Amino acid sequence: MTNESTATSAAGGLDVAVIGTGYVGTVAAVAFATLGHRVVGIESDPAKLAALRAGSVPFFEPGLGEFLTEAVGSGRLTFTDDLAAGVAPADVVFICVQTPPGEDGRPDLTALRDASMAVAAAATGRTVVITKSTVPIGWGAELRRIVGAVGSAADTAVVSNPEFLREGSAVNDFLYPDRVVLGGEGPAELAVVTELYRPIIEQSFPAGRPELEPVMVVTDTATAETIKYAANGFLATKIAFINEIARICDQAGADVLTVADAMGLDHRIERRFLGAGIGYGGSCFSKDLEALSWFGDDHRIDLPILGSVNRSNAAQRATVVDKLRTGLGNLSGRRIALLGLAYKADTDDLRDAPAITIARSAIDDGATVTAYDPVVRTVAALPDVTIADDAYEAVAGADAVVLVTEWREFADLDLAAVAAVMAGDLVVDGRNWLDPLKVTAVGLRYVGMGRSAAAG
Ligand code: UDX
Repeated sequence: MTNESTATSAAGGLDVAVIGTGYVGTVAAVAFATLGHRVVGIESDPAKLAALRAGSVPFFEPGLGEFLTEAVGSGRLTFTDDLAAGVAPADVVFICVQTPPGEDGRPDLTALRDASMAVAAAATGRTVVITKSTVPIGWGAELRRIVGAVGSAADTAVVSNPEFLREGSAVNDFLYPDRVVLGGEGPAELAVVTELYRPIIEQSFPAGRPELEPVMVVTDTATAETIKYAANGFLATKIAFINEIARICDQAGADVLTVADAMGLDHRIERRFLGAGIGYGGSCFSKDLEALSWFGDDHRIDLPILGSVNRSNAAQRATVVDKLRTGLGNLSGRRIALLGLAYKADTDDLRDAPAITIARSAIDDGATVTAYDPVVRTVAALPDVTIADDAYEAVAGADAVVLVTEWREFADLDLAAVAAVMAGDLVVDGRNWLDPLKVTAVGLRYVGMGRSAAAG
């Protein structure tokens, strides 16, 4: 299909290029191929490229492998390391490269700039360049300048299309989103991207459940970029808020789960993301809050709430270590077992994982740390932590166990077996994931996060 005809071809679908095959890029490439578009994933890492071509996802994401295998097998999804060859025939090009925090905490845009310039140089005909990476507010205007400066032979337009995928449910979140946000300046490019998402927006949902139907939000690029940061900033703030309430509950002898349930009955608040515990980790919340704070600094606007959320969240990890110190006396010579290493369940992602912070603190106090995670088998940042092959091996001989990640299998632990092999009896439930009464019923001490009333 030539590039000039941006309408979907007789065969249906558009030609799509996706640059960067990390969590976001791979899910986007697989999803658009599943929707019937022709997709080329562009990846420079040879190992990743070989894995993807073989239908293997180079990270843990439930269900993604099956979609990838089917998309590659159907011929609708291919992978290449040749950016120019992948971009040239594309109607739309997604830029999904990472924008990790730099040394000063500001987003490092090196990969984003390089990819954007390469796309501008390689695009031919009418091409819509879509930024899906999380980018600083105002990036869309910068990308237009880059495209203009490269003097692309193409008639290139710029659209912002931030993603709201959660690791562990990324495919579901992509195919059944609450909303699709598009930011652009011209109706033509927005029409192309709307066409791309039409199967998602127009999918049928159970009658009478309008709230399930995704909404297409079409705005300008700066607003679309702000929506992304505002959403992540609010979710992080909601978590930090309930964790501060959990600290109050610990002192007041109140139960934070009951508080959160009662708060959530107010439809203005909603119960989700009021899960008190160790707090957030991962590659997004902290980074995005930092980016918002830098935006405030750069524009001399005071953002006291947004500037305090990461600090509040970090204190929650210290709270867990304090609970260990309170429960054991000092930690020197003690054995601590961590259940869970990934920053949340259903992922193998260790970025900003609370387990790493907690293990480091305990080791600094002189403790010996073992750990088990159903998916994560090695942690480069914790060379002095013994990684066990199962939960019972990890807790054997431990003076205390810390539930760090809410993996399903930990809710089903044989607690009597845990009690039988531990040397001590302290269980710190960092995610309020265990049933306090079941823990105490086998003679263990239960310490939750804002649950002092629940352990009986
Ligand atoms: C998040 C956003 O939800 C998503 O929209 C964005 O695109 C990327 O960042 P993700 O980090 O994958 O997604 O997972 P999420 O389920 O949102 O959890 C984020 C962190 O908050 C995790 O560390 C999780 O453990 C923590 N969390 C979540 C809580 O501590 N309490 C809660 O109630 C919910």
